[in-house]
Amino acid sequence: MSQVLVISGHPNLDASNTNKVILNQLSDHFADIEVRQLDRLYPNYQIDVEAEQAALVKADVVVLQFPFYWYSIPALLKKWIDDVFSYNFAYGAKGDKLKGKDLVLSFTIGGPEESYNPLGYNHFSIEELLKPLEQTAYLAGMNYVKPVYTHSMVYIAGVYNTLEEVEARARSHADRLQTRIEDLIQAPENRISKFVTQWFAQFDELPDSTDDFTRYLSADIKWSAPEGTFSGHDGFRDWYSIVKRTFKPDCHHQIEQIEVRREGNHYAVELRIRLLADTYSESTLRGESINLLVNEVWKVSLDGTRTTIHDYHVDPVI
Ligand SMILES: Cc1cc2nc3c(=O)[nH]c(=O)nc-3n(C[C@H](O)[C@H](O)[C@H](O)COP(=O)(O)O)c2cc1C
Repeated sequence: MSQVLVISGHPNLDASNTNKVILNQLSDHFADIEVRQLDRLYPNYQIDVEAEQAALVKADVVVLQFPFYWYSIPALLKKWIDDVFSYNFAYGAKGDKLKGKDLVLSFTIGGPEESYNPLGYNHFSIEELLKPLEQTAYLAGMNYVKPVYTHSMVYIAGVYNTLEEVEARARSHADRLQTRIEDLIQAPENRISKFVTQWFAQFDELPDSTDDFTRYLSADIKWSAPEGTFSGHDGFRDWYSIVKRTFKPDCHHQIEQIEVRREGNHYAVELRIRLLADTYSESTLRGESINLLVNEVWKVSLDGTRTTIHDYHVDPVI
């Protein structure tokens, strides 16, 4: 799973002095990163919406990397948003695919800092000019992160800056962006979201051993599900054996909604999960193929790199 997705919106990255430096530094630093260079992928501006949406669904942190053009994003990146943030993907009744993901705007600006204020020749602050993008994030349910940007990034030989100056600023921009991304990846909400994804991927396989589940359960786990109430690791194993006798492996758990809230020393995780599965004919579900929607509430703690579930409650949605 690619945690960090970077969309490069520069229309001609080969000719870039600064965005190129930033992207190279990011790629060298992060192992789990996908960079999608729009000018190389779509020289004719024909965006592959399915491929872009698939990359977004996998990501936890989405970075838009671009040069500031006419107080906004370059046309290629605007086209990417127009095509990819579609109805029932980014907004609309079923448009929850970007919900909860972090959006980081990372961009380079030609004009100096002092020009972006009411008395300067650019009049408005950068934050004011970014409002349409900020609202785009809100409509899609994304977490709009404080943007990372750098002024005085234009290089015209003998007129504006030296190449060494803009490249040095680009490297320091990349350092700040790295720190911002690392903070986000380590944020408890993101760690728990990733854990939930891995947890259900395990459940899809229904392995014979319960070890990969019990190592995340506290010794006194309280487990309540439509099958009954169970406690401790033995209780979990009893529940799991009922599940194993009912559902065939290779089932599919879709995480339709996830919300993580801090409650004192713990986190409350509220989930809506859709289970698509085939059942055994000798089970209580008599071989039916089921499509079941459940609400789940977990109580989770984080300790260093360790995630532990203390309470697990499943309720079918009627
Ligand atoms: C078409 C175009 C529009 C631009 N518009 C702005 C602008 O509105 N404000 C600004 O400060 N700089 C503007 N610039 C300067 C760019 O932001 C600057 O050249 C860029 O950030 C440098 O990135 P690069 O080295 O990766 O190409 C513009 C440049 C171009 C080519």
